[in-house]
Amino acid sequence: MRKFYKPSVATAVLVLLLAAFPVLADNDVGKQGDNALVVYKNPLCFCCRKWMAHLHKAGIRTRTDNSVHMGEIKGQWGVPAGMQSCHTAVWQQKYVFEGHVPARLIRQYLSDPPEGSFGLTVPGMPKGSPGMDDGGEFEPYNVYLLMRGGDYRFYTRVTERESR
Ligand code: CU
Ligand code: CU
Repeated sequence: MRKFYKPSVATAVLVLLLAAFPVLADNDVGKQGDNALVVYKNPLCFCCRKWMAHLHKAGIRTRTDNSVHMGEIKGQWGVPAGMQSCHTAVWQQKYVFEGHVPARLIRQYLSDPPEGSFGLTVPGMPKGSPGMDDGGEFEPYNVYLLMRGGDYRFYTRVTERESR
């Protein structure tokens, strides 16, 4: 007896649902994978999606979680109040990238995480940072290290638009 592949009804229903509700589909952009960055964000946040598109172009995969309360997630990971931005991305349950951090700096950080730190943040939403580049304006911005214990430290300053 030969077996023929029959798409299950469940699969068909799922495909239809995702087509009908793009917000649900967005909950899993970039597909699953252990080395994907998990991006916590508001489902309606447009600059968050643009930042994720920047990461995808740079070869960094993402998974989205629109289900959480952003205040809770920032509190849970210890992102200080003045250092926050729109989205919080978590790598392997270990490192945090808050806001519009360039893909280049995420790679640089992961290749050599400074002692005592657990991630990077770009506070606020600087004009011209990745995902915030609609208007054509650019303002230089600082990137800070998130330090264990609630502190932060200067990491680097970005003085020009990312090339990708
Ligand atoms: Cu943003
Ligand atoms: Cu965002």
